[in-house]
Amino acid sequence: MIIFRDVSRVYRMGEEMVRALDHASIHIRQGEFVSIIGPSGSGKSTLMNIMGCLDVADEGQYLLDGQPVEHYSEKELAHIRNRKIGFVFQNFNLIGNMSAEENVELPLIYQGIGVKERRERTKEALEKVKIYERRKHRPGELSGGQQQRVAIARAMASGPSLFLADEPTGGCKIVV
Ligand SMILES: Nc1ncnc2c1ncn2[C@@H]1O[C@H](COP(=O)(O)OP(=O)(O)O)[C@@H](O)[C@H]1O
Ligand SMILES: [Mg+2]
Repeated sequence: MIIFRDVSRVYRMGEEMVRALDHASIHIRQGEFVSIIGPSGSGKSTLMNIMGCLDVADEGQYLLDGQPVEHYSEKELAHIRNRKIGFVFQNFNLIGNMSAEENVELPLIYQGIGVKERRERTKEALEKVKIYERRKHRPGELSGGQQQRVAIARAMASGPSLFLADEPTGGCKIVV
């Protein structure tokens, strides 16, 4: 469960202040599917980065599963980012010199998952987004939509309870 209470985020660039989020409040319950729409520069990525515990608010409160995020230890937050949250970045953030398959498998290695289960989960995730046939290709050899599907597979392979995708309809239109 996600609760934002009057969350603000102000970027400081020298003299200039950019208020990317201005008292944003939102309540997302377990099992809900939510889309956030708005013009470019309206703060969508800023909001999602805070939701995904990749950035922190300057003002207001973010409660994740009933607890303010600042109450979680660094170790707990790392665990939340690795296991609980699947994040698909706007630019996909795939590793260029690794194949699609290796990109999906990498976080599972960090999580200490054994080789057999890792391979199974990777295959399952790649099949789910219909990119398994391209598993040996590097990101540079894939289209934007295909790269996005690899990024979706990577986020899904860890079995997250919260799935966040930034501009998910930008590169491909598939239902997973
Ligand atoms: N790291 C940053 N430093 C300074 N300004 C930023 C930074 N990230 C985003 N912004 C500014 O914050 C505003 C919101 O950006 P963003 O959250 O990326 O919007 P969206 O994802 O909706 O296009 C924009 O005006 C953008 O220029
Ligand atoms: Mg954005």
